[in-house]
Amino acid sequence: MRRPFIAGNWKMNLTKAEAIALAQAVAAKVGAGHAVEIAVCPPAVHLDAVAAVLKGTGVGIGAQNVYFQPNGAFTGELSVAMLVDLGVQYVILGHSERRRIMGETNEHVNAKLHAVLAGGLTPIVCVGETLDERTANKTEDIVQEQLAGSLAGITAEQAGRVVIAYEPVWAIGTGQVATKEQAEEVHAAARKMLAARFGETTAASIRIQYGGSVKPDNAADLLAQPNIDGALVGGASLKADSFLGIVAGVKL
Ligand code: 13P
Repeated sequence: MRRPFIAGNWKMNLTKAEAIALAQAVAAKVGAGHAVEIAVCPPAVHLDAVAAVLKGTGVGIGAQNVYFQPNGAFTGELSVAMLVDLGVQYVILGHSERRRIMGETNEHVNAKLHAVLAGGLTPIVCVGETLDERTANKTEDIVQEQLAGSLAGITAEQAGRVVIAYEPVWAIGTGQVATKEQAEEVHAAARKMLAARFGETTAASIRIQYGGSVKPDNAADLLAQPNIDGALVGGASLKADSFLGIVAGVKL
């Protein structure tokens, strides 16, 4: 019902030559028509080159960020139309690194979400709590607040085109993966929140990825959970073998 979706977030890594080589290796091993939806999200300066490599393959391409205005005096920013022009299909929005380091708020994420949906791209909206928030038992409150703020003003039809990524901040880049029970609990709660807002049918169709130290050896357990529909992978997406090892963890 929900097609599993594994995306690699390359973050601020790789030279252009390395990015091309990695995209070629992933595409060669995936082949066309894979049952799992697969995408990689290179740094913006490599999108053009990687899009050229991935054109016509079974691997999609996403950006890690975008600005919400269509054009104008916004030094250093990129528009949705620019990404569309390059053949980009997905955009990661509200990653915790952007929220914490670049000061992005739910309002920013929401403005970007509206622009991305209007431009016909698929948004991957990231939510997740810090360790302090989890320790204080605030995980579901935080996810609720981030979902409500980030998804404000969209219709159920638009929500059906959104991918959510639950990425507990304490699990990102730390090697400390959420247990399958911890992750499933939040995914199930997030789906309930989506159902309350958009209705059961739409909520049942929305993919919710897990992100945070996903590796080939822990992917299968996580991906077997009923509400975990894929993964947003950081470090392990920087090598074709480990990224595809995670794809192989999807039980079809
Ligand atoms: P790691 O897989 O390196 O923990 O990163 C997860 C992440 O932030 C993906 O967006």
